[in-house]
Amino acid sequence: MYVCICNSIKDRDVRNSVAEGAQKVSHVFKKQGCKPECARCVNCIRDIIQEETAPEKFLIAAE
Ligand code: FES
Repeated sequence: MYVCICNSIKDRDVRNSVAEGAQKVSHVFKKQGCKPECARCVNCIRDIIQEETAPEKFLIAAE
């Protein structure tokens, strides 16, 4: 699923960036070799980073 239309970044790209050490939205853009343009995707990217770095929080919420 595309999370950033301006830069064609998919959720999989964000998860891969986190696996490679990205901890902030800016890190994801840097790893993808682009910069935010409209910034509408920032909250979505931030949510994916949180999901990847604290998955137990989302498991409890799903129960
Ligand atoms: S949707 Fe990501 S910068 Fe526009």
